[in-house]
Amino acid sequence: MVDLSVDLKGIRFANPVAMASGNAGYGFEYQAVSGFSNRDVGAVFLKGTTLEPKLGNKPERVMESPCGLLNSIGLQNPGAHAVIADYLPKLDLSQTQFIINVSGSSVEEYAEVVRLFDQTDLPAIEVNISCPNVKKGGAAFGNDPEMAARVVEACRASTTKPLIVKLSPNQTDIAEGARRVIDAGADILSAINTMMGMQIDIDSATPTLGNNQGGLSGPAIKPIALLKVHQVYQVAKQYDVPIIGLGGIASAEDAIEFILAGASMVAIGTAIAKDPLLVKKVSKGVERYMKRHGYRSVNEMTGRLTLNT
Ligand code: DOR
Repeated sequence: MVDLSVDLKGIRFANPVAMASGNAGYGFEYQAVSGFSNRDVGAVFLKGTTLEPKLGNKPERVMESPCGLLNSIGLQNPGAHAVIADYLPKLDLSQTQFIINVSGSSVEEYAEVVRLFDQTDLPAIEVNISCPNVKKGGAAFGNDPEMAARVVEACRASTTKPLIVKLSPNQTDIAEGARRVIDAGADILSAINTMMGMQIDIDSATPTLGNNQGGLSGPAIKPIALLKVHQVYQVAKQYDVPIIGLGGIASAEDAIEFILAGASMVAIGTAIAKDPLLVKKVSKGVERYMKRHGYRSVNEMTGRLTLNT
């Protein structure tokens, strides 16, 4: 018997494949797609939410490239109060684990948004310290371990719910960054957010994105994300802190690589836009692999990578 469920800090997920934040809106966007059910998804990470509504960056905000997607959305969202009053009541919380992703432009704002979501029925809060598209001296909090630790400490003091901290690949040493946020109170880590990139329109000689630069996602970042998850795992396993791996996952094979590298769960982002039913297909593929290789639980597979000597 293969058990696809995972337990992360007391939260039970029916399967280890989630929808990444920013790709599933507020849990409704894919309901109309034929064959889609939130019940087939391990978790839905809701769009990054700030205290006040945000219109986001100026267009263009999403550009395709042959190796992935560049986005400079800039956290467009209706604000925490509207999400809590108007969006969350519409979700059927028995379908899957809906997890809010929160952002802020100051330590105090992060703490306040977390405090608001602490009062909801959502099972956990993902603290996004790694959005590349909020200008605060040009850098996300997550690129500076000191700032990251301060944000996480303030969030920790604002909720008793499990805190998932989303790490930036744009920091110098992600393993050290992981250690700092674990010390500051992170229960679970997610890695990675998008990587800073640029695309240029050669006729106008200007960047294609209105914000000039943006976060790269999709196939291009998968090998990078995999290495970062492997590096974070070396630290996180010492503290018994699980990792949600993401970055360019588009198949069951990709998901399995992340689990072997140390992820307890994975999330899919960019690839969902082309196939909203992908999460279900990937979890079925993971199940088949587990049967073939004699794994009874996802937990047994996590971190089973053997390095060459
Ligand atoms: O690439 C990203 N874009 N990562 C985030 O965390 C947020 C998003 C945005 O809204 O810009």
